[in-house]
Amino acid sequence: MTTLIRNGTLVTAEKTLAADLLIDGETIRDVRAGIPPETARRVIDAAGMLVFPGGIDVHTHLDMPFGGSTSSDDFETGTRAAAFGGTTTLIDFAIQARGMTMRQALDLWWKKADGRASIDYGLHMIVTDLPDAGLEDMDSMVAEGVSSFKLFMAYPGVLMVDDATIFKALSQTARNGALICMHAENGSVIDVIIRRALAEGKKAPIYHALTRPVTAEAEAVHRAIAMAEIAGVPVYIVHLSSEDALNQVREARDRGLPAFAETCPQYLLLSVDELARPGFEGAKYVFTPPLREKSHLPKLWDGLKHDHLQVVSTDHCPFCFEDQKAIGKDDFTKIPNGGPGIENRLQLIYHHGVNEGRISLNRFVELVSTTPAKLFGLYPRKGELAAGSDADIVIWDPNQEHSISAKTHHMRVDYSMFEGFRVTGNARTVISRGEILVEGGRYLGRAGRGRFLKRAARGGAWK
Ligand code: URP
Ligand code: ZN
Ligand code: ZN
Repeated sequence: MTTLIRNGTLVTAEKTLAADLLIDGETIRDVRAGIPPETARRVIDAAGMLVFPGGIDVHTHLDMPFGGSTSSDDFETGTRAAAFGGTTTLIDFAIQARGMTMRQALDLWWKKADGRASIDYGLHMIVTDLPDAGLEDMDSMVAEGVSSFKLFMAYPGVLMVDDATIFKALSQTARNGALICMHAENGSVIDVIIRRALAEGKKAPIYHALTRPVTAEAEAVHRAIAMAEIAGVPVYIVHLSSEDALNQVREARDRGLPAFAETCPQYLLLSVDELARPGFEGAKYVFTPPLREKSHLPKLWDGLKHDHLQVVSTDHCPFCFEDQKAIGKDDFTKIPNGGPGIENRLQLIYHHGVNEGRISLNRFVELVSTTPAKLFGLYPRKGELAAGSDADIVIWDPNQEHSISAKTHHMRVDYSMFEGFRVTGNARTVISRGEILVEGGRYLGRAGRGRFLKRAARGGAWK
Protein backbone atom coordinates (compact mmCIF):
# COMPACT_ATOMS: atom_id res chain seq x y z
CA MET A 1 0.00 0.00 0.00
CA THR A 2 1.32 3.45 -0.91
CA THR A 3 -0.04 6.65 0.64
CA LEU A 4 0.74 10.21 -0.31
CA ILE A 5 0.18 13.05 2.17
CA ARG A 6 -0.08 16.22 0.08
CA ASN A 7 -0.28 19.96 0.64
CA GLY A 8 0.57 19.86 4.35
CA THR A 9 3.19 21.74 6.34
CA LEU A 10 5.78 19.25 7.56
CA VAL A 11 7.26 19.95 10.98
CA THR A 12 10.31 18.24 12.43
CA ALA A 13 12.59 19.16 15.31
CA GLU A 14 14.86 20.84 12.77
CA LYS A 15 12.62 22.50 10.22
CA THR A 16 9.18 23.49 8.96
CA LEU A 17 8.56 23.06 5.24
CA ALA A 18 5.84 22.76 2.62
CA ALA A 19 6.39 19.28 1.19
CA ASP A 20 4.64 16.02 0.36
CA LEU A 21 5.34 12.74 2.09
CA LEU A 22 5.13 9.33 0.42
CA ILE A 23 4.57 6.20 2.49
CA ASP A 24 5.37 2.79 1.07
CA GLY A 25 4.05 -0.02 3.28
CA GLU A 26 5.27 0.63 6.82
CA THR A 27 7.93 3.21 6.07
CA ILE A 28 8.41 6.69 4.66
CA ARG A 29 9.85 6.48 1.14
CA ASP A 30 10.13 10.11 0.09
CA VAL A 31 9.79 13.62 1.49
CA ARG A 32 9.85 16.49 -1.02
CA ALA A 33 7.68 19.06 -2.72
CA GLY A 34 5.74 18.04 -5.80
CA ILE A 35 5.47 14.23 -5.50
CA PRO A 36 2.95 13.36 -8.27
CA PRO A 37 -0.41 12.10 -6.85
CA GLU A 38 -0.44 9.15 -9.26
CA THR A 39 2.60 7.73 -7.39
CA ALA A 40 0.30 6.46 -4.60
CA ARG A 41 -2.84 4.36 -4.29
CA ARG A 42 -4.21 6.51 -1.47
CA VAL A 43 -3.89 10.30 -1.34
CA ILE A 44 -4.55 12.30 1.83
CA ASP A 45 -5.08 16.03 1.43
CA ALA A 46 -3.41 17.79 4.36
CA ALA A 47 -4.05 21.37 3.20
CA GLY A 48 -4.10 23.68 6.23
CA MET A 49 -2.71 20.87 8.44
CA LEU A 50 0.59 20.30 10.18
CA VAL A 51 2.31 16.96 9.60
CA PHE A 52 4.74 15.74 12.23
CA PRO A 53 6.25 12.49 13.53
CA GLY A 54 4.00 10.47 15.87
CA GLY A 55 4.28 11.32 19.54
CA ILE A 56 6.51 9.18 21.76
CA ASP A 57 5.54 8.87 25.42
CA VAL A 58 8.47 7.36 27.30
CA HIS A 59 6.75 7.13 30.70
CA THR A 60 3.53 5.12 31.06
CA HIS A 61 2.27 2.52 33.52
CA LEU A 62 -0.33 0.26 31.88
CA ASP A 63 -1.83 -2.65 33.79
CA MET A 64 0.59 -1.99 36.65
CA PRO A 65 -0.01 -3.41 40.15
CA PHE A 66 0.71 -0.52 42.51
CA GLY A 67 -0.51 0.85 45.83
CA GLY A 68 -2.93 -1.99 46.49
CA SER A 69 -4.58 -1.73 43.09
CA THR A 70 -3.76 -2.03 39.36
CA SER A 71 -3.66 0.91 36.98
CA SER A 72 -7.00 0.98 35.17
CA ASP A 73 -5.78 1.20 31.57
CA ASP A 74 -4.33 -1.98 30.12
CA PHE A 75 -2.31 -2.20 26.92
CA GLU A 76 -5.49 -2.24 24.82
CA THR A 77 -7.34 0.73 26.30
CA GLY A 78 -4.15 2.69 27.02
CA THR A 79 -2.64 2.42 23.55
CA ARG A 80 -6.00 3.23 21.91
CA ALA A 81 -6.30 6.38 24.03
CA ALA A 82 -2.68 7.24 23.19
CA ALA A 83 -3.45 6.94 19.47
CA PHE A 84 -6.44 9.29 19.76
CA GLY A 85 -4.06 11.89 21.15
CA GLY A 86 -1.40 11.47 18.45
CA THR A 87 0.98 9.22 20.36
CA THR A 88 2.18 6.31 18.21
CA THR A 89 4.92 4.88 20.45
CA LEU A 90 5.19 4.43 24.16
CA ILE A 91 7.72 3.01 26.57
CA ASP A 92 6.10 1.32 29.56
CA PHE A 93 7.70 -0.07 32.72
CA ALA A 94 8.09 -3.74 33.51
CA ILE A 95 8.67 -4.31 37.23
CA GLN A 96 11.21 -6.75 38.55
CA ALA A 97 9.59 -7.23 41.96
CA ARG A 98 11.71 -8.58 44.83
CA GLY A 99 12.42 -12.27 44.37
CA MET A 100 11.71 -12.12 40.65
CA THR A 101 14.30 -12.15 37.87
CA MET A 102 14.35 -9.47 35.19
CA ARG A 103 13.71 -12.23 32.66
CA GLN A 104 10.48 -13.21 34.46
CA ALA A 105 9.37 -9.57 34.64
CA LEU A 106 10.01 -9.06 30.94
CA ASP A 107 8.03 -12.18 30.02
CA LEU A 108 5.17 -11.02 32.24
CA TRP A 109 5.01 -7.59 30.62
CA TRP A 110 5.22 -9.05 27.10
CA LYS A 111 2.20 -11.16 28.05
CA LYS A 112 0.29 -8.07 29.23
CA ALA A 113 0.98 -6.29 25.92
CA ASP A 114 0.64 -9.25 23.57
CA GLY A 115 -2.60 -9.18 21.57
CA ARG A 116 -3.59 -5.85 23.16
CA ALA A 117 -1.24 -3.05 22.11
CA SER A 118 -2.34 -1.13 19.03
CA ILE A 119 0.76 1.06 18.81
CA ASP A 120 4.43 0.10 19.03
CA TYR A 121 5.91 -0.08 22.49
CA GLY A 122 9.19 -0.54 24.28
CA LEU A 123 9.82 -1.47 27.90
CA HIS A 124 12.05 -0.08 30.61
CA MET A 125 12.85 -2.40 33.50
CA ILE A 126 12.17 -1.22 37.07
CA VAL A 127 14.85 -2.79 39.26
CA THR A 128 14.05 -3.43 42.92
CA ASP A 129 16.56 -6.13 43.65
CA LEU A 130 20.12 -6.10 42.35
CA PRO A 131 22.55 -8.52 43.97
CA ASP A 132 26.03 -8.51 42.42
CA ALA A 133 25.06 -11.70 40.60
CA GLY A 134 22.16 -9.82 39.01
CA LEU A 135 24.28 -7.16 37.34
CA GLU A 136 24.72 -9.36 34.29
CA ASP A 137 20.93 -9.63 34.02
CA MET A 138 21.01 -5.95 33.09
CA ASP A 139 23.29 -6.79 30.15
CA SER A 140 20.89 -9.56 29.04
CA MET A 141 18.00 -7.08 29.14
CA VAL A 142 19.96 -4.65 26.97
CA ALA A 143 20.55 -7.48 24.48
CA GLU A 144 16.74 -7.98 24.43
CA GLY A 145 16.18 -4.31 23.56
CA VAL A 146 15.36 -3.18 27.08
CA SER A 147 18.05 -0.52 27.15
CA SER A 148 16.86 1.56 30.09
CA PHE A 149 16.18 0.88 33.76
CA LYS A 150 14.23 2.79 36.38
CA LEU A 151 15.41 2.98 39.95
CA PHE A 152 13.47 4.48 42.83
CA MET A 153 14.94 6.72 45.54
CA ALA A 154 11.39 6.83 47.03
CA TYR A 155 8.70 4.40 48.26
CA PRO A 156 10.75 2.68 51.02
CA GLY A 157 9.85 -0.97 51.54
CA VAL A 158 8.19 -1.17 48.14
CA LEU A 159 10.33 0.06 45.25
CA MET A 160 13.13 2.08 46.85
CA VAL A 161 16.71 0.89 46.48
CA ASP A 162 19.75 2.16 48.38
CA ASP A 163 22.58 4.28 47.01
CA ALA A 164 24.91 1.29 46.69
CA THR A 165 22.43 -0.42 44.40
CA ILE A 166 21.94 2.76 42.39
CA PHE A 167 25.70 3.24 42.04
CA LYS A 168 26.23 -0.38 40.97
CA ALA A 169 23.50 -0.10 38.36
CA LEU A 170 24.85 3.20 37.07
CA SER A 171 28.36 1.74 36.86
CA GLN A 172 27.08 -1.27 34.91
CA THR A 173 25.69 1.06 32.24
CA ALA A 174 29.22 2.22 31.47
CA ARG A 175 29.66 -1.32 30.08
CA ASN A 176 26.26 -2.09 28.59
CA GLY A 177 25.26 1.37 27.29
CA ALA A 178 21.88 1.47 29.03
CA LEU A 179 20.29 4.61 30.45
CA ILE A 180 19.27 4.79 34.12
CA CYS A 181 16.00 6.62 34.76
CA MET A 182 15.71 7.91 38.28
CA HIS A 183 12.67 8.57 40.43
CA ALA A 184 14.41 11.20 42.52
CA GLU A 185 12.91 11.97 45.91
CA ASN A 186 14.50 11.31 49.30
CA GLY A 187 12.14 8.50 50.34
CA SER A 188 13.63 7.96 53.82
CA VAL A 189 13.18 11.58 54.87
CA ILE A 190 9.71 11.73 53.34
CA ASP A 191 8.77 8.59 55.26
CA VAL A 192 9.62 10.27 58.58
CA ILE A 193 7.62 13.37 57.65
CA ILE A 194 4.65 11.18 56.66
CA ARG A 195 4.72 9.32 59.99
CA ARG A 196 4.73 12.62 61.88
CA ALA A 197 1.76 13.86 59.83
CA LEU A 198 -0.24 10.69 60.47
CA ALA A 199 0.53 10.87 64.19
CA GLU A 200 -0.94 14.38 64.19
CA GLY A 201 -4.10 13.09 62.48
CA LYS A 202 -3.31 14.74 59.14
CA LYS A 203 -4.87 12.27 56.74
CA ALA A 204 -6.51 14.28 53.93
CA PRO A 205 -5.16 14.18 50.33
CA ILE A 206 -3.44 17.58 50.68
CA TYR A 207 -0.95 15.98 53.10
CA HIS A 208 0.39 13.88 50.26
CA ALA A 209 1.86 17.11 48.86
CA LEU A 210 2.74 18.68 52.19
CA THR A 211 4.81 15.67 53.27
CA ARG A 212 6.96 15.66 50.11
CA PRO A 213 8.96 18.93 50.17
CA VAL A 214 10.67 20.23 47.02
CA THR A 215 14.02 19.97 48.82
CA ALA A 216 13.52 16.20 49.09
CA GLU A 217 13.28 16.14 45.30
CA ALA A 218 16.18 18.55 44.69
CA GLU A 219 18.44 16.65 47.09
CA ALA A 220 17.74 13.35 45.36
CA VAL A 221 18.26 14.84 41.90
CA HIS A 222 21.59 16.23 43.09
CA ARG A 223 22.59 12.84 44.56
CA ALA A 224 21.53 10.92 41.47
CA ILE A 225 23.55 13.19 39.20
CA ALA A 226 26.55 13.03 41.55
CA MET A 227 26.48 9.22 41.53
CA ALA A 228 26.22 9.22 37.73
CA GLU A 229 29.15 11.62 37.54
CA ILE A 230 31.28 9.34 39.72
CA ALA A 231 30.29 6.36 37.57
CA GLY A 232 31.01 8.40 34.43
CA VAL A 233 27.62 7.76 32.80
CA PRO A 234 24.52 9.69 31.76
CA VAL A 235 21.39 9.78 33.91
CA TYR A 236 17.77 10.66 33.14
CA ILE A 237 15.53 12.17 35.84
CA VAL A 238 11.88 11.19 35.43
CA HIS A 239 8.81 13.33 36.18
CA LEU A 240 10.72 16.38 37.42
CA SER A 241 8.26 18.65 39.21
CA SER A 242 9.96 21.67 40.76
CA GLU A 243 12.21 24.65 40.13
CA ASP A 244 14.61 23.44 42.83
CA ALA A 245 15.08 20.08 41.10
CA LEU A 246 15.38 21.78 37.73
CA ASN A 247 18.21 23.98 39.07
CA GLN A 248 20.18 20.83 39.92
CA VAL A 249 19.82 19.52 36.36
CA ARG A 250 20.68 22.90 34.83
CA GLU A 251 23.82 23.29 36.95
CA ALA A 252 24.97 19.79 36.01
CA ARG A 253 24.37 20.41 32.32
CA ASP A 254 26.18 23.76 32.56
CA ARG A 255 29.15 21.76 33.81
CA GLY A 256 28.90 19.59 30.68
CA LEU A 257 27.46 16.51 32.38
CA PRO A 258 25.10 14.24 30.41
CA ALA A 259 22.17 14.80 32.78
CA PHE A 260 18.73 14.71 31.18
CA ALA A 261 15.24 15.20 32.54
CA GLU A 262 11.59 15.03 31.63
CA THR A 263 8.59 16.79 33.04
CA CYS A 264 4.87 16.11 32.49
CA PRO A 265 1.82 18.24 31.58
CA GLN A 266 0.46 18.07 35.14
CA TYR A 267 3.57 19.80 36.54
CA LEU A 268 3.37 22.47 33.82
CA LEU A 269 -0.33 23.23 34.17
CA LEU A 270 -1.63 22.27 37.63
CA SER A 271 -0.64 23.32 41.14
CA VAL A 272 -0.86 22.02 44.70
CA ASP A 273 -4.19 23.86 45.05
CA GLU A 274 -5.84 20.91 43.28
CA LEU A 275 -5.11 18.68 46.28
CA ALA A 276 -7.00 21.06 48.57
CA ARG A 277 -10.28 20.58 46.67
CA PRO A 278 -13.28 19.96 48.92
CA GLY A 279 -14.12 16.48 50.19
CA PHE A 280 -11.94 13.76 48.78
CA GLU A 281 -11.62 15.36 45.29
CA GLY A 282 -7.94 16.12 45.92
CA ALA A 283 -7.22 12.38 45.62
CA LYS A 284 -7.55 12.73 41.85
CA TYR A 285 -4.27 14.65 41.98
CA VAL A 286 -2.33 12.32 44.25
CA PHE A 287 0.77 11.24 42.37
CA THR A 288 4.47 11.41 43.04
CA PRO A 289 6.29 13.79 43.07
CA PRO A 290 3.32 15.94 44.06
CA LEU A 291 1.99 19.09 42.44
CA ARG A 292 3.87 22.20 43.55
CA GLU A 293 3.12 25.87 44.24
CA LYS A 294 2.12 27.90 41.14
CA SER A 295 5.46 29.74 41.07
CA HIS A 296 7.18 26.57 39.78
CA LEU A 297 5.12 26.34 36.60
CA PRO A 298 6.72 29.14 34.53
CA LYS A 299 10.18 27.91 35.60
CA LEU A 300 9.47 24.48 34.14
CA TRP A 301 8.20 25.99 30.87
CA ASP A 302 11.39 28.04 30.79
CA GLY A 303 13.41 24.86 31.33
CA LEU A 304 11.73 23.25 28.34
CA LYS A 305 12.43 26.26 26.17
CA HIS A 306 16.12 26.45 27.07
CA ASP A 307 16.81 22.71 26.97
CA HIS A 308 17.38 22.32 30.70
CA LEU A 309 14.54 19.81 30.32
CA GLN A 310 14.54 17.63 27.22
CA VAL A 311 11.33 15.61 27.19
CA VAL A 312 7.63 15.85 28.03
CA SER A 313 6.15 12.47 29.01
CA THR A 314 2.90 11.76 30.90
CA ASP A 315 3.66 9.31 33.74
CA HIS A 316 0.21 7.96 32.81
CA CYS A 317 -0.81 5.79 35.77
CA PRO A 318 -4.61 5.96 36.04
CA PHE A 319 -6.72 4.84 38.99
CA CYS A 320 -10.49 5.30 39.02
CA PHE A 321 -11.74 7.81 41.57
CA GLU A 322 -14.81 5.84 42.64
CA ASP A 323 -13.32 2.48 43.48
CA GLN A 324 -9.52 2.83 43.41
CA LYS A 325 -8.56 6.25 44.77
CA ALA A 326 -11.26 5.59 47.39
CA ILE A 327 -8.99 3.01 49.04
CA GLY A 328 -7.32 5.98 50.74
CA LYS A 329 -10.48 7.79 51.84
CA ASP A 330 -9.38 7.91 55.47
CA ASP A 331 -5.61 7.96 54.97
CA PHE A 332 -3.77 9.73 52.14
CA THR A 333 -0.89 7.22 52.28
CA LYS A 334 -3.28 4.53 51.00
CA ILE A 335 -4.43 6.47 47.92
CA PRO A 336 -2.94 4.73 44.86
CA ASN A 337 -0.37 7.16 43.45
CA GLY A 338 -0.84 8.14 39.83
CA GLY A 339 -2.91 10.10 37.36
CA PRO A 340 -4.19 9.75 33.79
CA GLY A 341 -2.80 11.71 30.83
CA ILE A 342 -1.69 9.52 27.93
CA GLU A 343 -4.34 10.98 25.60
CA ASN A 344 -3.87 14.70 26.22
CA ARG A 345 -0.11 15.31 26.14
CA LEU A 346 0.14 16.69 22.60
CA GLN A 347 -3.04 18.77 22.89
CA LEU A 348 -1.89 20.38 26.14
CA ILE A 349 1.71 21.04 25.15
CA TYR A 350 0.70 22.32 21.72
CA HIS A 351 -1.96 24.67 23.10
CA HIS A 352 -0.17 25.94 26.19
CA GLY A 353 3.29 25.73 24.64
CA VAL A 354 3.02 26.67 20.96
CA ASN A 355 -0.24 28.65 20.84
CA GLU A 356 0.65 30.61 23.95
CA GLY A 357 4.13 31.43 22.64
CA ARG A 358 6.18 29.51 25.24
CA ILE A 359 7.92 27.16 22.78
CA SER A 360 8.31 26.99 19.00
CA LEU A 361 6.59 24.42 16.83
CA ASN A 362 9.91 22.67 16.18
CA ARG A 363 10.73 22.56 19.87
CA PHE A 364 7.28 21.02 20.46
CA VAL A 365 8.10 18.18 18.05
CA GLU A 366 11.53 17.79 19.63
CA LEU A 367 10.06 17.50 23.15
CA VAL A 368 7.20 15.10 22.43
CA SER A 369 8.82 12.91 19.77
CA THR A 370 12.36 13.41 18.47
CA THR A 371 14.38 13.70 21.68
CA PRO A 372 12.48 10.81 23.35
CA ALA A 373 13.41 8.70 20.31
CA LYS A 374 17.06 9.79 20.49
CA LEU A 375 17.49 9.28 24.24
CA PHE A 376 15.80 5.89 24.27
CA GLY A 377 17.41 4.20 21.28
CA LEU A 378 14.62 4.56 18.72
CA TYR A 379 15.99 7.26 16.43
CA PRO A 380 15.78 7.61 13.41
CA ARG A 381 13.33 4.73 13.13
CA LYS A 382 10.90 6.78 15.25
CA GLY A 383 10.67 10.51 15.89
CA GLU A 384 11.58 11.66 12.38
CA LEU A 385 10.01 12.39 9.00
CA ALA A 386 12.64 11.03 6.61
CA ALA A 387 13.01 8.31 4.01
CA GLY A 388 13.53 4.99 5.83
CA SER A 389 11.82 6.01 9.08
CA ASP A 390 8.69 4.19 10.23
CA ALA A 391 5.58 5.89 8.85
CA ASP A 392 4.34 7.03 12.28
CA ILE A 393 2.72 10.31 11.40
CA VAL A 394 0.26 12.76 12.89
CA ILE A 395 -1.78 15.05 10.67
CA TRP A 396 -2.64 17.84 13.07
CA ASP A 397 -5.41 20.35 12.70
CA PRO A 398 -4.02 23.52 14.30
CA ASN A 399 -7.47 25.13 14.38
CA GLN A 400 -9.59 22.37 15.83
CA GLU A 401 -11.01 23.30 19.22
CA HIS A 402 -11.40 20.60 21.78
CA SER A 403 -12.70 20.50 25.32
CA ILE A 404 -10.99 17.88 27.50
CA SER A 405 -13.43 15.81 29.55
CA ALA A 406 -13.81 12.38 31.11
CA LYS A 407 -17.16 12.24 29.31
CA THR A 408 -15.44 12.07 25.92
CA HIS A 409 -11.90 10.82 26.53
CA HIS A 410 -10.85 7.26 25.66
CA MET A 411 -8.80 6.44 28.75
CA ARG A 412 -10.42 3.84 31.02
CA VAL A 413 -10.72 6.10 34.02
CA ASP A 414 -13.65 8.00 35.48
CA TYR A 415 -12.12 11.48 35.71
CA SER A 416 -9.77 13.82 33.90
CA MET A 417 -7.06 15.84 35.62
CA PHE A 418 -7.68 18.46 32.93
CA GLU A 419 -11.50 18.46 33.00
CA GLY A 420 -12.83 21.52 31.20
CA PHE A 421 -9.49 22.60 29.70
CA ARG A 422 -10.16 24.06 26.24
CA VAL A 423 -7.41 23.54 23.71
CA THR A 424 -6.94 24.56 20.09
CA GLY A 425 -5.08 22.01 17.95
CA ASN A 426 -5.83 18.31 17.77
CA ALA A 427 -4.83 15.14 15.90
CA ARG A 428 -7.00 14.68 12.79
CA THR A 429 -5.30 11.60 11.31
CA VAL A 430 -2.93 9.30 13.19
CA ILE A 431 -0.83 6.82 11.24
CA SER A 432 1.28 4.01 12.67
CA ARG A 433 3.65 2.15 10.34
CA GLY A 434 1.54 3.23 7.36
CA GLU A 435 -1.83 2.19 8.89
CA ILE A 436 -4.44 4.79 9.77
CA LEU A 437 -5.39 4.33 13.44
CA VAL A 438 -7.51 7.42 13.95
CA GLU A 439 -9.31 9.52 11.35
CA GLY A 440 -11.47 12.49 12.31
CA GLY A 441 -12.30 11.07 15.75
CA ARG A 442 -13.00 7.52 14.47
CA TYR A 443 -10.83 4.63 15.64
CA LEU A 444 -9.61 2.33 12.87
CA GLY A 445 -6.86 0.57 14.81
CA ARG A 446 -6.71 -2.99 15.99
CA ALA A 447 -5.66 -4.49 19.32
CA GLY A 448 -2.53 -6.58 18.92
CA ARG A 449 -1.05 -4.82 15.88
CA GLY A 450 1.48 -2.92 18.02
CA ARG A 451 4.98 -4.40 18.08
CA PHE A 452 7.59 -4.64 20.80
CA LEU A 453 10.51 -2.36 19.96
CA LYS A 454 14.02 -3.58 20.58
CA ARG A 455 15.77 -0.37 21.48
CA ALA A 456 19.44 0.37 20.93
CA ALA A 457 21.89 1.10 23.72
CA ARG A 458 24.35 3.88 23.26
CA GLY A 459 27.28 1.50 22.97
CA GLY A 460 29.65 3.24 25.37
CA ALA A 461 29.70 6.66 23.70
CA TRP A 462 26.86 9.08 24.23
CA LYS A 463 25.47 10.28 20.89
O1 URP B 1 2.58 8.66 41.35
C1 URP B 1 3.13 8.16 40.38
N1 URP B 1 4.00 8.86 39.70
N2 URP B 1 2.85 6.87 40.04
C2 URP B 1 3.52 6.10 39.11
C3 URP B 1 4.78 5.50 39.63
C4 URP B 1 5.93 6.47 39.51
O2 URP B 1 6.55 6.79 40.50
O3 URP B 1 6.27 6.86 38.40
ZN1 ZN C 1 8.35 7.55 39.55
ZN1 ZN D 1 5.89 6.74 36.63
